[in-house]
Amino acid sequence: MCGIVAYLGDKEAQPLLLEGLRRLEYRGYDSSGLAVLNGKGLEMVKKVGRIEQLERALGPNPLHGSLGICHTRWATHGKATEVNAHPHTDASGKLAIVHNGVIENYGTLKKKLIEKGFQFRTETDTEVLAFLIGFYFDTLNSETENRLEMAVMEALREVTGTYGLVAIHQDQPDVMVGARRGSPLVLGIGPHEHFLASDVAAIAAHTQTVAHLRDFDVVTVDRQGYRLKSLTHNAPDESGLEISQIDYQAADAEMGDFPHFMLKEIFEQTLSIQNAVRGRLNLEECTAQLGGLNLSPQELRDIDRIVITGCGTAMHAGIVGEYIIESLAHVPVEVEWASEFRLRNSPLDRRTLVLVVSQSGETEDTLGALREARRKGHRVLGICNNVASSLARETDGGVYMYAGPEISVASTKAFTSPTIIFVLLGLLLGRMRFLSASQGLQIIQAIEALPDQITQVLKQSGHINQIAEKYSYSRSMLFFGRQMQYGIALEGALKMKEISYIHAEGHPTAELKHGVIALVDENTPSVFLCPKDGAYDKNINNLQQIKARKGPVIAIATEGDEEILQQADDVIYIPDAPEYTAPILSAVALQLFAYHMAVILGRDVDKPRNLAKSVTVP
Ligand code: G6P
Repeated sequence: MCGIVAYLGDKEAQPLLLEGLRRLEYRGYDSSGLAVLNGKGLEMVKKVGRIEQLERALGPNPLHGSLGICHTRWATHGKATEVNAHPHTDASGKLAIVHNGVIENYGTLKKKLIEKGFQFRTETDTEVLAFLIGFYFDTLNSETENRLEMAVMEALREVTGTYGLVAIHQDQPDVMVGARRGSPLVLGIGPHEHFLASDVAAIAAHTQTVAHLRDFDVVTVDRQGYRLKSLTHNAPDESGLEISQIDYQAADAEMGDFPHFMLKEIFEQTLSIQNAVRGRLNLEECTAQLGGLNLSPQELRDIDRIVITGCGTAMHAGIVGEYIIESLAHVPVEVEWASEFRLRNSPLDRRTLVLVVSQSGETEDTLGALREARRKGHRVLGICNNVASSLARETDGGVYMYAGPEISVASTKAFTSPTIIFVLLGLLLGRMRFLSASQGLQIIQAIEALPDQITQVLKQSGHINQIAEKYSYSRSMLFFGRQMQYGIALEGALKMKEISYIHAEGHPTAELKHGVIALVDENTPSVFLCPKDGAYDKNINNLQQIKARKGPVIAIATEGDEEILQQADDVIYIPDAPEYTAPILSAVALQLFAYHMAVILGRDVDKPRNLAKSVTVP
């Protein structure tokens, strides 16, 4: 995961760029670099280590100029060295680019450039891209007005892979060109200045007016403003960019003084849900649009079974997804642990769609499942957060979460993002089958209501903390949920054991009486997921069975449900929502519950014992 910040305006670029990088520091760094353009040409400094190293190097000798680009790298391929750090320059040393993503055909492009006599200094794909853009720049007449823009577009037409990039050239000292495919890039628009960044957090302190680039967009910023083109056609893009105002408070909180990454990431979910949905709702046709699936309408219609696979939290999102897709689209879904799927001969047929879910895109067992399905000739799509991951490269298509980096080992955003993506998928497949336009519209309205509803849950953090305090004596906890809340019971229990080390089990509510009830006593609290849905009465019945055995009950219930106050010992309310979006709200409540419990017990919240963020061993 890397970060980009670029600036063109009437101020000194370096302090703004460094501040932007600091705001992205939670991504974890191994090297960073900064380049500016001024009357003296291109000046650049790169350093291995955290941003302080770069700041220290620039401290006594700041780079002056009001146009600059910078980058933070977290190496996935190629060592963390100064030479591999971004920006990368072209053969002439006059062009510099910063790039996130992976240029898949860089080997072929490199060979072609070597044949033309170019000599490379690094093993990176980004340097090849810089050379290619530089090559086209030099072939264009020096009088050409849009020279850098044209060179970027020519080069990107030859590229396969993913990129969010910004290019500058000393022969066009008042221009920066940004482009996106797969890796996010956001344009910040301020008075007399523009920013390009991979994350709004980097620029939110300076402007709240932003536009998210879409895949294949190319934006050229100069001192007069910006213009947009699309790689799919050369003319100015008539449809323009959708300009929105970001909530400064929320964006600031993203990088604010949270005591732990986990809490910050829990609070980021109002934004990460919006990012997962942005540009994917089609209001006119009351459906979802998921271009990255790379499937024609005919192929989508032909799907008659879906197998979802993943590990840990990703797998739990899949379990919620199973209920959502079957309910909205009536397509049969099965969910399998990736570690099991990869080793057995799971029966798949021609019309089965395999969906792999992973935050990191690097989990060994999930990649094993992906490769096994592909080896058997099946089409495999991914739901993934890391656009530069092995999973992103090896799947036939999919849907990015765009949840932003998740640093805390215990996954939070990467649970709710795939869950909402399953709602989008259910909507898309459902509208191709039997859902009416008005049903589609209702689903869209429920999706659009979610960010505010998540905020309502987050506001209860203090109340949830008090409940955690009350039950912090527990050695063991039980979590119960039915239907779409069953996966939340599993995930709530996983969060609790991961970070508080309290033994916790999740079960389908009615299974209570087939064994689990033997564990119930006055020291074993049960978390009961019982929103007002079709199973409410049955849930209350089960809840009473726990109470009859003196088990304390914490209910997750729907706002306005007064009856539950008589039944449960403690209640956490979630806003009223349909059964397919309510799991996201109860998940946020249980993330907060586990978080506060872990803090009360003095655990290492972000780095729990024995666990790793990305498990790259089988
Ligand atoms: C590890 C992490 C979990 C995560 C799981 C799958 O076990 O500790 O939080 O859910 O891996 O990770 P992935 O990156 O594939 O979503």
